[in-house]
Amino acid sequence: MSQPALESILQEKRLFPPPPSFVQRARITPERYQQICQEAEADPLGFWERLAQQELHWFQPWQQVLHWDPPQAQWFVGGQLNLSYNCLDRHLDNGRRHKPALIWEGEPGDTRTLTYEQLHREVCRWANGLKSLGIQKGDRVGIYMPMIPEAVMAMLACARIGAAHTVVFGGFSAEALKERLRDAEAKVVITADGGWRKDAIVPLKSQVDLALAEGVPSVEKVLVVQRTGQAVSMIPDRDIWWHELAPSLEEACPAEPMDAEAMLFILYTSGTTGKPKGVVHTSGGYNLYTHVTCQWIFDLQEEDIYWCTADVGWITGHSYIVYGPLSNGATVFMYEGAPRPAKPDCFWELIARHRISIFYTAPTAIRAFMKSGDALPRRHDLSSLRLLGTVGEPINPEAWMWYYTVIGSGRCPIVDTWWQTETGGIMISPLPGVTPTKPGSATRPFPGIAADVVDMEGNPAPEGGYLVIRRPWPGMMRTLYKDPQRFRSSYWERIPPKDGQYFYFAGDGARRDEDGYFWVMGRVDDVINVAGHRLGTMELESALVSHPAVAEAAVVGRPDEIKGEAIVAFVILAEGYGPGEALRQALMQHVVEEIGAIARPSEIRFTEALPKTRSGKIMRRLLRQLAAGSGISGDTSTLEDLGVLERLRQGV
Ligand code: WTA
Repeated sequence: MSQPALESILQEKRLFPPPPSFVQRARITPERYQQICQEAEADPLGFWERLAQQELHWFQPWQQVLHWDPPQAQWFVGGQLNLSYNCLDRHLDNGRRHKPALIWEGEPGDTRTLTYEQLHREVCRWANGLKSLGIQKGDRVGIYMPMIPEAVMAMLACARIGAAHTVVFGGFSAEALKERLRDAEAKVVITADGGWRKDAIVPLKSQVDLALAEGVPSVEKVLVVQRTGQAVSMIPDRDIWWHELAPSLEEACPAEPMDAEAMLFILYTSGTTGKPKGVVHTSGGYNLYTHVTCQWIFDLQEEDIYWCTADVGWITGHSYIVYGPLSNGATVFMYEGAPRPAKPDCFWELIARHRISIFYTAPTAIRAFMKSGDALPRRHDLSSLRLLGTVGEPINPEAWMWYYTVIGSGRCPIVDTWWQTETGGIMISPLPGVTPTKPGSATRPFPGIAADVVDMEGNPAPEGGYLVIRRPWPGMMRTLYKDPQRFRSSYWERIPPKDGQYFYFAGDGARRDEDGYFWVMGRVDDVINVAGHRLGTMELESALVSHPAVAEAAVVGRPDEIKGEAIVAFVILAEGYGPGEALRQALMQHVVEEIGAIARPSEIRFTEALPKTRSGKIMRRLLRQLAAGSGISGDTSTLEDLGVLERLRQGV
């Protein structure tokens, strides 16, 4: 990797201070924020320690707040707690017993509401179910589920008895599932017959059968929830219907006191090589960090109805559907499906009907909604919304503005939250009652988080460099499962430590502006070097998307003899525009106008779809291969729709 000279030429000057009515009621006001930041900077460990005391229930206090033997961190050493206790039991005695914990809606329109008391009871039953299958403290349990309440119950049940879960997104193939179950050496797999997604049934159980047929020797039992009712094969002695096991199980199961550093879960994420990385999170620090970030960034108030549209199979689902909100005693709305082509306004309809007040989604979804026009959201009463959030990739200012004006009616602050599977919780984000926002910027680090932008030697490089974290934080990953060496080399040695200072290397390029705001420009491998100028692909895409003819764009570099790399843009046109040479020229000129002559794309290819992972990230690696005219190689198992690739190839 060479020295970054990221040029961030896109100039975004608009500033949106929090609405005064929001500030008045906010949990964190500007005054409180000043005080918090002072505390956190003067004594970071004392800051986290006080929060851990105030916010969580502990069975046993810790002896040491942090033991830091880089890159190994241990938080709240000697302390004991249980996440399921903090998410459930303690709310039974603090006035939330009959408060809805989960409000769920399935794609076919069926609904369920579980109060804290009811969810507690179900989780106890699930915990006893796992125990009856031989699961003990420290065992691993695979969860491969649709977005139904049982997915949450299964996770909390694992936490309750001290088993580590590894949730595999229900859209992953049998192959990907097998690889993850093998690596984690899961003893039990929890699944369902199927689940609803985009008006079709996703067959989960049959995928589990396929995965296990190829041999995952550790798996002894498969617990199956009946969701869709379609026929599935049940293998005697291995497969068990949940509804047949459940009636025999007791409804009480005390939460197991767990060491703060006991493994809570493994979550696999993709790295630079083909082999997924098993990111390990532990109990105490993760509980504290997701709790506090969720409370402050989403400004959780007692009466809020909070909807995070992620899937529980991703870190966003772990931290901000399950653990963060429930630890705070919030009411979580959960939806089974994804935005449905047949019902493009279903999200707005759900917001109106369930009176959602906090809505947290991804830029890719926002751009898709934007493409289908303003009329759809305008048909629904979105007045219950008071706060909007985004996560997962940089949001281009055009999409931010649309979200702000059309969905939020200019009333709702937007929290653009930067973080990763590895960080456990949100690291850079506005606090909605405090931080004036700029479209496209995740703004400032969370109190206590030492984020910075540096060059490869670790010197400050605010004008463009690598995003790093300079000191440990409670929610940080502890290791890569069974691969501590890769943990060290991928994250802690990319930038060599100096004078005892270690840099957590996030793998993102960023810059800081004159107000200290962070502008994340995407993965460092998504940066294009054109004639010695590095350009963030996101900025090029933003420029393209700001043209009325463009609905979505993905930009990659293609090797170029003279310039090093040339810019190739894949463009999806907005409704009412057709491809053509005149438009191609106009778009190239538009980019030049938005950014500068160095940013002129060498090539623009019109397309109807982009290859995306099931979590909505554009697979630039594949686009780079297409742009370079080389064959497609490497892993395509995370691709949402293989056909997209074929169509793109034929279009070439
Ligand atoms: C990107 C998702 C810009 C980033 C929580 C990061 C973002 C990767 C943002 C992690 C944001 C996430 N602005 N980029 N607000 N949020 N990213 O592990 O490149 O699925 O490194 O975690 O997504 O993706 P992951």
